[in-house]
Amino acid sequence: MSDRASPLVVAVDGPAASGKGTISRRIAGRFQLAYLDTGLLYRAVGAKMLEAGLPLNDQEAAARMARGLEQPDFHRQDLRLPATARAASIIAQIPQVRQALLEYQRWFARNPLGGMRGAVLDGRDIGTVICPDATVKLFITASPEERARRRCAELAQGGNPADYATVLSDVIARDKRDRERASAPLRQADDAHLLDTTNLAIDEAVAKAAEILEPYLR
Ligand code: DC
Repeated sequence: MSDRASPLVVAVDGPAASGKGTISRRIAGRFQLAYLDTGLLYRAVGAKMLEAGLPLNDQEAAARMARGLEQPDFHRQDLRLPATARAASIIAQIPQVRQALLEYQRWFARNPLGGMRGAVLDGRDIGTVICPDATVKLFITASPEERARRRCAELAQGGNPADYATVLSDVIARDKRDRERASAPLRQADDAHLLDTTNLAIDEAVAKAAEILEPYLR
């Protein structure tokens, strides 16, 4: 099979508010790739658990929610709330939840929507677990302080101003859970390119990412 016969896959991983979402979306547009924000899958499960009033450590219930996700679940208004992000990071520790979401992510990578040339998936374990054979892998990071500053700006813009110290401790707690969990923890794949966006404006970060990816996506 020639290279062209198999779709291109760009695996993007990194911690919360590293810029990976915006970078991935813009890279997808530039290189004609479909885009999947895999965090939304975990956020949808977290939101449904909160809505149902179920404890976040109920593994059976969370796995059932993950298996039963439907399209409208990805358009909920509460997916971007800090409480949902926290719930997502807690249910993401449950191996049966990760297992339930794995096939869909791999299917998306193999079957790019709308005749696109391939797909960009962003998350925590794309380069290590979901698509270990990706065409190219990026690990995007930034200091916790800078990420908390960005998250505060985002929240303020969305009309939900938040206290910097609280956001910073949320960011640090979420990093710790995502990095230290037993099942598919956040880590840089050995063959991933590292992009630190701490001192980059978003346009500069996108340009850097495009420069790294370009040779692989011609
Ligand atoms: O990228 P995000 O902030 O939307 O992700 C929300 C949470 O979902 C994150 O804290 C951990 C979990 N997640 C994961 O475990 N694996 C992924 N591929 C994507 C997200």
